[in-house]
Amino acid sequence: MKNWKKNSWRNYPVKHIPEYPDKKGLDNVLEKIEAFPPLVFAGETRHLKSQLADVVDGKAFLLQGGDCAESFAEFHPDNIKDTFKLLLQMSLVLTYSASLPVVKLGRIAGQFSKPRSSPVEVKDGVELPSYLGDNINGMEFSESARVPDPKRLFRAYSQSASTLNLIRAFSKGGFADLNKVHLWNLDYIKKTPETKRFKELEDKIADALAFMEACGINSDFNNRLYTVNFWTSHEALLLPFEEAMTRTDTTTGENHDTSAHFVWIGDRTRQLDGGHVEFCRGIENPIGIKCGPTLEPDDLINLCNRINPNNDKGKITLISRFGADNVSKYLPKLIRAIKKEGLNVIWSCDPCHGNTIKATTGFKTRPFNSVLKEVQNVFACHQSEGSYAGGLHIELTGQDVTECIGGAHKISEEDLSSRYHTHCDPRLNANQALELAFLISDEIKKNSSYSKNANKAAS
Ligand code: PEP
Ligand code: CO
Repeated sequence: MKNWKKNSWRNYPVKHIPEYPDKKGLDNVLEKIEAFPPLVFAGETRHLKSQLADVVDGKAFLLQGGDCAESFAEFHPDNIKDTFKLLLQMSLVLTYSASLPVVKLGRIAGQFSKPRSSPVEVKDGVELPSYLGDNINGMEFSESARVPDPKRLFRAYSQSASTLNLIRAFSKGGFADLNKVHLWNLDYIKKTPETKRFKELEDKIADALAFMEACGINSDFNNRLYTVNFWTSHEALLLPFEEAMTRTDTTTGENHDTSAHFVWIGDRTRQLDGGHVEFCRGIENPIGIKCGPTLEPDDLINLCNRINPNNDKGKITLISRFGADNVSKYLPKLIRAIKKEGLNVIWSCDPCHGNTIKATTGFKTRPFNSVLKEVQNVFACHQSEGSYAGGLHIELTGQDVTECIGGAHKISEEDLSSRYHTHCDPRLNANQALELAFLISDEIKKNSSYSKNANKAAS
């Protein structure tokens, strides 16, 4: 990697990185973090990359999801457990319908910093700097809370370490045993069509497991039934922190950002000559690139070539987020450009960020129908372009929140205030997310390329 160092991004312009008034305090914290243990290790990241290479080849599907912004206030083992369970249940639904393995990637254990549409927030005539995520400043609307505080970085690192520790225990300790996962019921999934459909799925899986048991295949002997691979990701936004977490792998000499297995570049920081792209081009982690309406095909090609000059499979995931009604306007030209250049990418769909609206009650929300419609439009678009819709990127929580309107429980604008807890964007709750997984599995079944790919994988 020519002319790259973990701090070379500092020579480029950067957006959405705050100025810390306490520079000395920031340096001290970064120095401390640099000397602390990595959160993930290089071998894991390579493993994820090989799983993502299977997604590029249409042999697997990628499910990425979690909070818009993790917070100190919502840090609780039950929240981690419920989000983990929900992602596993959604995976089960998708695995069953597509007959494909699902790569499970949480927006978790490090998803704190947020790029904001405005640097300031005005309330009752008072203007303050915007909230930028719990690892930077506080959400409370007061002058002192909004000052970037370096100590928050260390607290976020510790919270990420504890979160990851619990996730590893769940993934490898037997909690995620397939014999149990299909029997899980999230307590609050009330009587909905999803409960019934999940019950039917449970019965089918129970039959399959009973058959496998009879053939001598069970979790006592087969680790793959007993454990899951669950990976972590966040937006590589706050580069001073990502730099401090970047280490050289002693076995290969490669540089890895050890803050997560996968990091992505946001739609607002993907400038080719900007610091975020410079940082991401030098690390070995798989990289996501958010693709919004302002991304031109030539820029996308240049970005891919800059970040993945060897065209490695599994290195790049393109996460489209145009808004339900804009998919046909923007996505086909990007797909054609990537195809023409022969670039290996995963096409994932984020149906959340292009469909955020303000409710009449003032809350930021997302209509469930728009989320579903974007997924349907994206699948249809890939089908007609002959490309593989290989992933889904969702903001969700395992909690019973009321942040997005619609879904089987028909959450209305008036309901939003009852359990609106997000620190940034509105998340699908567990009912809505599971409902989406079932509705998408219907799309997958309709989409002939999946059956073709599934056959390829089986042969
Ligand atoms: C996000 O994923 O939370 C986000 C800010 O998305 P985007 O960069 O696509 O706007
Ligand atoms: Co968001």
